[in-house]
Amino acid sequence: MDVSVRVDRASLTSVRTPLLIVNLFEGVDRPSGATGAVDEALGGLIARLIADGEIRGTLGEITIVHNQGERSQLAADRVAVVGLGKRDDLDLETLRIAAATAARKARDLRVGRYATVVHGAGAGGLDSRLAARTVVEASLLALYTFYDFKSAPDDPRPTIDEIVVVERDEDRADAIEEAATEASVVADAVALARDLSQTPGNSMTPPILADRARAMAESRGLSIQVWGKDELREHGMNAILAVNSGSAQDPRFVMMRHDSGNPGAKTLAVVGKGITFDSGGISLKPPEHMENMKHDMSGAAAVVGFMQLAADVKLPVNVIGIFAATENLPSGTAYKPGDVFKTYQGTFIEIVNTDAEGRVILSDSLAYAAEQNPDAIVDLATLTGACVVALGHHASGAMGNDEGLLSLMKQAGDVAGERVWPLPLWKDYRKDIESGIGDIKNTGGRPGGALTAAAFLQCFVGDKPWVHLDIAGTAYTEGWARTPPYQPPGCATGVGVRLLLEFARRWSA
Ligand code: BES
Ligand code: MN
Ligand code: ZN
Repeated sequence: MDVSVRVDRASLTSVRTPLLIVNLFEGVDRPSGATGAVDEALGGLIARLIADGEIRGTLGEITIVHNQGERSQLAADRVAVVGLGKRDDLDLETLRIAAATAARKARDLRVGRYATVVHGAGAGGLDSRLAARTVVEASLLALYTFYDFKSAPDDPRPTIDEIVVVERDEDRADAIEEAATEASVVADAVALARDLSQTPGNSMTPPILADRARAMAESRGLSIQVWGKDELREHGMNAILAVNSGSAQDPRFVMMRHDSGNPGAKTLAVVGKGITFDSGGISLKPPEHMENMKHDMSGAAAVVGFMQLAADVKLPVNVIGIFAATENLPSGTAYKPGDVFKTYQGTFIEIVNTDAEGRVILSDSLAYAAEQNPDAIVDLATLTGACVVALGHHASGAMGNDEGLLSLMKQAGDVAGERVWPLPLWKDYRKDIESGIGDIKNTGGRPGGALTAAAFLQCFVGDKPWVHLDIAGTAYTEGWARTPPYQPPGCATGVGVRLLLEFARRWSA
């Protein structure tokens, strides 16, 4: 992203800035600490607004105070007081909400740059490195925009070029500087995943998606291998070819590698669903909201974003990033209900619904991933509407064959603010996809749709520890939906990138 972040080792009141952001907990009537110092320089104006009931400190409340006093002791032109909510409720998510709300307000005010304290790191609060990482990351995520297909800038297009984090204490400032650098590379990786997913299907075809992965890999010195139709045929990846058969666009199969450089390091394989547009195929979807199916490659987008991040933070685990990319379209050459295909692994799959295409391309992708002999596999896929029905848009579904991995994933989700919730994967679901003519069929019908989908995937990971993340409900937000302020509405979220970073760090520790 083109927002730069820098740390200013100055006193708050002396920072020259068009906008200075401080905070207030709910229920505090005499501000102390940083906000207290600013209040004093403003001659007690903030305390007066609290007494008047205008400033209450509720989470995400924003009050702008203009600094017009001629003999003011404050160098900033304006102050924004952002509410942090109740002190007892302070956590990483409330920090994200406060920081993101402030960042968006700054953009609305068209200030170009602003200065901020690290919220939540005051006396008795959070560790200042963690708080800074969270505040800066959420601010950058909130400032994400996607204007690739807007011909004219809005009036003029508001942008923030610089965020200045103010911290006078030298040791804390050093820690905050490191945290801000990491927050920037994390936000860049999320922005990449969002860009890929947000781009319309006609501009994000399988070859283009593979080219974007290649450009990323080359910029970071990651190795990458890209297969087209010929190589897929040579290797017997007939499941990917089956889904591709209705499309005029060539498929791609992409494998990237991040080498930790550490001989004892474990290897994690991350596998994404890369359907660049899902019409349902011959089992055509109804037209309402079909346009959202451009996001059906969000799993692959997360894999590309995470590979970039793994390189940028020098992740101490080896990572293999894999995705198959194809459209799912109906045509005279399209695959059909009733067709049976021999997968890369050798398993015969019967197609009963061509709209259950994600698991079909994942069958070959996962079997290939397992063959690379990783220590664990994580897949991310916008796989089922059933998962959205089960969890809504507030969590990704997690299924797998290893309780330890699942529990690490859940913890990672809580910390990253990308919640995951475990769903069962009993053997019964495998019986629901028993095929009469072949080995397994690609759906078990509506009951437990997220779980029979996972049972299908499980057939292709062998005995490798594996977690499947169904991100159908979390990969994008609807334009009308209420979203957290760090997620633009009507936009890809980039879900999975930050989750995988937290997960990989816990897993390697
Ligand atoms: N890509 C869809 C799942 C999806 C639904 C993602 C809503 C995001 C939002 C997937 O390929 C699909 O069509 N799944 C079917 C499976 C069914 C035919 C067994 C579904 O969920 O209806
Ligand atoms: Mn589908
Ligand atoms: Zn799909």
